[in-house]
Amino acid sequence: MSNKSLARPHEETTILVTGGAGFIGSHTVVELLENGYNVVVVDDLSNSHAEALERVRAITNTAEGAARDRLVFHEENILDREAMQRIFAAHPIDAIIHFAGFKAVGESVQKPLEYYWNNIAGTLVLCEVAREHGCKNIVFSSSATVYGEPEFIPITEDCPKHEATNPYGQTKSMLERILSDLYIGDDEWNVVLLRYFNPIGAHASGTIGEDPEGIPNNLLPYVAQVAVGKLAEVGVFGDDYPTPDGTGVRDYIHVVDLARGHVAALDWMGGKRGSGEPRGLGSMAGRPAEDGTRRGVGIFNLGTGKGSSVLEVIRAFEAACGHPIPYAVKPRRAGDIAENYAACDKAREELGWQAEYDLARMCEDAWRWQSSNPNGYKGA
Ligand code: WQD
Repeated sequence: MSNKSLARPHEETTILVTGGAGFIGSHTVVELLENGYNVVVVDDLSNSHAEALERVRAITNTAEGAARDRLVFHEENILDREAMQRIFAAHPIDAIIHFAGFKAVGESVQKPLEYYWNNIAGTLVLCEVAREHGCKNIVFSSSATVYGEPEFIPITEDCPKHEATNPYGQTKSMLERILSDLYIGDDEWNVVLLRYFNPIGAHASGTIGEDPEGIPNNLLPYVAQVAVGKLAEVGVFGDDYPTPDGTGVRDYIHVVDLARGHVAALDWMGGKRGSGEPRGLGSMAGRPAEDGTRRGVGIFNLGTGKGSSVLEVIRAFEAACGHPIPYAVKPRRAGDIAENYAACDKAREELGWQAEYDLARMCEDAWRWQSSNPNGYKGA
């Protein structure tokens, strides 16, 4: 069966967002609705809350009259083939943005079977059902983790991939391979792999944001919970790295910028953005199709291109919340690298996308979310 064409106005296009109730998913749904798309969310709520989508409806309702009516939610797991069949039969899905997956690095070491099964098999079911319904357009939520210990910085998309040190990272890397092979086997497929750096921040309304279960693993939600008084102090994992202040440096990107990168990727797939010869992966990279859309495998880093240290993040958050944040230096965390940040030229040149918000703004928005929702969605 031939592929659905994305060479149509957003208003006539339906996007399936798996994991759409999650942190990055919910922010992406806002941007899709504000850009006129019809959106179908599939989420099993295993690590998210339906309330997030209610708030997405509230945000987009004020932004544009009927936007909320263009969002449909199905509480299902992507591994459930019959459910996915029903969803594809019920909606004219043109493209998929695939976020659904387990994502805790440490937990993945303890539960490899669960991670491989959920992330890999789930994606296989999703793609198989999509193909049966003539939908071969997919944007995949990948990660800078695929670069492992990077060979050079700033990291370009050509930087060689390295073995991930945990099953979570392995699933991202393997799924990149699997989705690329779909195109090699059938050149109707249109695949975009978005490699995220460190998404933080929240929607400017402060009504949706990151809501991790239990003690946060990642720096920003941890800092935010210390700032709001739920946790006592931030542990700074190592101050003897070869970086300016000795603490780890990462490329933090505002989740709203990241979400907008997905809208740009869909336009790129639809031939509405970018011109000339795409770079990377030779003939695989987004060749023009007869209907003006692209076919191939587009790979893009989504970051800001700017690295910030752990101490810089703590200081920026202090400025946002208006009081000091206690911290203590701890030993290095196993598996951490000293420094990483993205080269973002490819996304800028081909997708016409670049991050707008700086670290101060990321912290201000994260603080607005955290301070007005100290218990996340559970307090709602
Ligand atoms: C950032 C910096 C820590 C917590 C991870 C995954 C990646 C992606 C995003 C997501 C590092 C330091 C952290 C703390 C600290 N996956 N830190 N105290 O490790 O860059 O990326 O999350 O789904 O695949 O590896 O992000 O936020 O955990 O750490 O000092 O309590 O903050 O050492 O330098 P990371 P992070």
